[in-house]
Order: sequence, then C-alpha cells, then structure tokens
Amino acid sequence: MKLLHVDSSITGNESISRRLTADIVAHLRAGRPDIQVVYRDLDAVPVPHQSAALMAARSGAAAGDNMRAEVAAADTALEDFLSADIVVIGAPMYNFGIPSQLKAWIDHLAVPGKTFTYSEAGAAGLCGDKRLIVASTRGGIYSAQSPKATHDHQESYLKGFFAVIGVTDISFVRAEGVRMGDQLKEQALAVAREETSALRAA
Ligand SMILES: Cc1cc2nc3c(=O)[nH]c(=O)nc-3n(C[C@H](O)[C@H](O)[C@H](O)COP(=O)(O)O)c2cc1C
Repeated sequence: MKLLHVDSSITGNESISRRLTADIVAHLRAGRPDIQVVYRDLDAVPVPHQSAALMAARSGAAAGDNMRAEVAAADTALEDFLSADIVVIGAPMYNFGIPSQLKAWIDHLAVPGKTFTYSEAGAAGLCGDKRLIVASTRGGIYSAQSPKATHDHQESYLKGFFAVIGVTDISFVRAEGVRMGDQLKEQALAVAREETSALRAA
C-alpha cells in the first residue's frame, strides 16, 4: 500500500498542518507498518505553476531545455498521485483559500484521460479507488454554522475538485480558530487529535 504525504504550509516549524499530517501518517503507519510513504514538501520544493509554455511542452510540442525540468516536475506530481492508495494533504487556509503552492500541485492532477474523462454527461472521475485525508487548519472558524462559512474557499474547493476526479472517500482532520487565542487553539488541537485517532486503519 502506498501513501502520498503532501505538505504546503509556509510557516515552517510553527506549522500546525504539518504537525497534523505527521500525526495522521504516524497513526496510519501504526496500523500498517508496511505502508510505503512518499513525502512532498511543496514549500521546500514547489511545483511549477501552469503556463502557456508548460501546457505546450506537456502536450507534445518540442520542449526546449528550459522547460524539461518543469515538465518532469509536473509529470512527477501526477505520477505520485496516481500511484498512491492514500493521499494525506496538509491544507492551511491562506487568504480564504489554499496556499498557491498547493493549488499549483493540484493543477497538475487535472489531466483528462488520467484523472477524469469528459463526455456529453459532463466530467467523470477516474480516481474512485483513492482515500484522501486532509489536515485543514484555519485561524478563524468557518464550519457550517459559522457566520463566516461562506468565506470558506479552502475545504469547499478541495471537496469540489477531488469529487470531480472521483475521490469520494474524503476525511477532514480540522483545527480551526487557531488564531483566536490560546484556549481556542488548544481546543482545536484536541479536536484534531481526536479526529486523527478516530481515522480508520489503512
Ligand atoms: C499567509 C497567511 C494567510 C492566512 N489567511 C487566513 C485566512 O484567510 N483566514 C483564516 O482564518 N486564517 C488565515 N491564516 C491563519 C492560518 O490559517 C493559520 O495560522 C493556520 O494554522 C495555518 O496553517 P499552518 O500553521 O500549517 O501554516 C493565514 C495565515 C497565513 C500565514
């Protein structure tokens, strides 16, 4: 069984999402020590953003020397995802959405014929065999009953994107309100720890 572990926080050692993804992976590994883990740190080693030159090079146009590394990085992002049975993503809320590093990585997963198909009926996902666990961190509170729920373009985006490519087995481990004082932060971390312990075994 293969597990892809992706972090995207830019806050280094202070990062809460990095702590949560590490705990999630440790929890899954405790039940399945034979899991093979591939780790990607999108802050330390960012993937290239989509661009006209990258799209052209990936669609078969002769890639100049300057594009080869970008094509390889985009291909690796897709291959990492396709070969994983479980994907654990650290997804902080930054400016109401996800980090641009994570968005750039996700952009390389939206490949017709690989992760979804188009037909007259619309898009059909090809990734229904994968399990996704998202470690979601946010400074404020945006869950359903909150007056700020409509500002959530982070979890709602991730749910929408991965649903389109067919991933229906999605769990969120959430620490929210972590910038609303020490007491709320500790409560949020305790909730996230409980959610991690409750994750079913791999
Ligand atoms: C660049 C940046 C933008 C942020 N934007 C938001 C935001 O829009 N809403 C919010 O509730 N918290 C926001 N926060 C707070 C983070 O969501 C919070 O600190 C969370 O712990 C970030 O995850 P991390 O600790 O793994 O980096 C922001 C933090 C940073 C560093």
